[in-house]
Amino acid sequence: MLIKNYSSELMAYSAEKAREEAKKHYGNEIYIRGLIEISNFCKNDCYYCGIRKSNKNCNRYRLSKDEILECCKEGYELGFRTFVLQGGEDSYYTDEVLCEIIREIKSEYPDCAVTLSLGERSKESYQSLFDAGADRYLLRHETAVKEHYEKLHPDSLKFDERMRCLRQLKEIGYQVGCGFMVGSPYQTTEYLAKDLKFIEEFSPHMCGIGPFISHKDTPFKDEKSGSAELTVFLLSLIRLIKPNILLPATTALGTLDEKGREKGVLAGANVVMPNLSPLSVRKKYMLYDNKISTGQESAQCVEDLKKRLKEIGYKVVTARGDCKE
Ligand code: 5AD
Repeated sequence: MLIKNYSSELMAYSAEKAREEAKKHYGNEIYIRGLIEISNFCKNDCYYCGIRKSNKNCNRYRLSKDEILECCKEGYELGFRTFVLQGGEDSYYTDEVLCEIIREIKSEYPDCAVTLSLGERSKESYQSLFDAGADRYLLRHETAVKEHYEKLHPDSLKFDERMRCLRQLKEIGYQVGCGFMVGSPYQTTEYLAKDLKFIEEFSPHMCGIGPFISHKDTPFKDEKSGSAELTVFLLSLIRLIKPNILLPATTALGTLDEKGREKGVLAGANVVMPNLSPLSVRKKYMLYDNKISTGQESAQCVEDLKKRLKEIGYKVVTARGDCKE
């Protein structure tokens, strides 16, 4: 099977083909998204995640509307035209609170896209947030196999609910992103094949994948981390399955491999998501051990990123970066 027996030759071949596909749709342009981690409070207890409810060592915070707008201001000046509001499932952020934040961002920065990544909510809630101006929603499916999903999550989280959310987000009209971790506990190559099949069928606008990295305060603390190599190979396969997809080279990939982002781009990724969260909270949004970008300011990150991607022939652009049909 393609995934099980991947070799360096197959990786190189797939990467070349994937780059060609990405170039057809997006040229040598790389889109950037400003990631604002608005809260690390979470009602869920996912076995892999460092901000899970039961982690007593997690220092909790949430950002106010003004703090979020301050991040957008800084981001706009740096050339970001997409803001991603990501957080745990924190009941503080009611529809009312979120709609007001979204409306203010959209009225101050009408040329920007707002992406939400705030977990599972009701259809009505997704609709209100969309009506307030949100353009995109990221909700990783985590795994396309129900039995696997149940091994990564407590009973309160249901695979069918996850799928319900993804379906409804698309129906409402969001540009939708799904995704999964590579090398999560109990994952098999068959499961990965099902993830790829799911992506083919669901046909999301975006797909975020990154290696699983264990976190010391979770039930999966002793599980081994996923492979950066396999992640990169899967990026190429996803690009080939859905040539115009928005495909980020993720922070987790950059954490595991110093050159992870470059490798991701050279394998067909066309998006990077630098951290725009206030410096004071960055260390607190620890989904996994040693998450990067906690010391650097995004200003430095973006300049550094531009330089690094230029060296491999790519250009970071100031654009909303919508999915091209
Ligand atoms: N390693 C890698 N990725 C993780 N995520 C959560 N915990 C980890 C971990 N330990 C990912 C999940 C989630 C996203 C926000 O971060 O896929 O959807």
